[in-house]
Amino acid sequence: MIKFKHYKFDDIVSSSKKKTSSGRNAFFHMKEYDFLMTRKNPNVLEFGVALGYSTCVFINAVEKTGGFLYSCDIIDCGDRVIGSGKWKFIKCDDRNVNVIMQSGRIKKFDLIHIDSFIDYQKSNSHVIELLEKWSKYLVKGGIITVRGVDNTPYKKGGRKENYRKALMYERVHEGIETFLEDNKGLFKAEFLYGSVGMAYLIKLKD
Ligand SMILES: C[S@@+](CC[C@H](N)C(=O)[O-])C[C@H]1O[C@@H](n2cnc3c(N)ncnc32)[C@H](O)[C@@H]1O
Repeated sequence: MIKFKHYKFDDIVSSSKKKTSSGRNAFFHMKEYDFLMTRKNPNVLEFGVALGYSTCVFINAVEKTGGFLYSCDIIDCGDRVIGSGKWKFIKCDDRNVNVIMQSGRIKKFDLIHIDSFIDYQKSNSHVIELLEKWSKYLVKGGIITVRGVDNTPYKKGGRKENYRKALMYERVHEGIETFLEDNKGLFKAEFLYGSVGMAYLIKLKD
């Protein structure tokens, strides 16, 4: 039995069919869910748990497919999910590969989801560092998803105008483009827009 403190999976499923900003965000996560449902015993690694929206979606997928979810956050989010033997929470910085990899027996993941720290640095940004560090722990055919590639709502005159957030999400998009440029042919990328957007990077080769 999976019980969440903050979200209900059925609500996320219904929301994903609505043409609202939160519906768009739910749709992005349901796309990850649909991908996991095509895999046998998929292993998932997520960075950034907070109240566990993405965690709720991933656990529902791994419970049904015989997979396992590792979730990492610098704050203690270990009590967000009650009653799943398919979940392990790791309190750690997401750049700490050794600690995270030693927390379980998984060597490679089917899906790695990035939704943690965003910085403002144009070069060597957190997202580039994560993509460089973690792409080798993804199976061929697996996906890395990165939340926050659309800054439209935060731009000047936008629905939620906010200079800092507009810059942050621009940096995430730039970071992914830089990584793809530096690793040509390794991934096929798809950027989806609306809400704050999501990038899907499909690994083409080891
Ligand atoms: C946007 S929230 C995550 C939202 C979550 N994915 C969801 O769907 O509800 C970002 C989270 O990243 C965590 N975080 C920030 N920097 C981090 C880092 N370096 N390593 C791991 N987690 C980090 C924060 O503590 C915060 O809980």
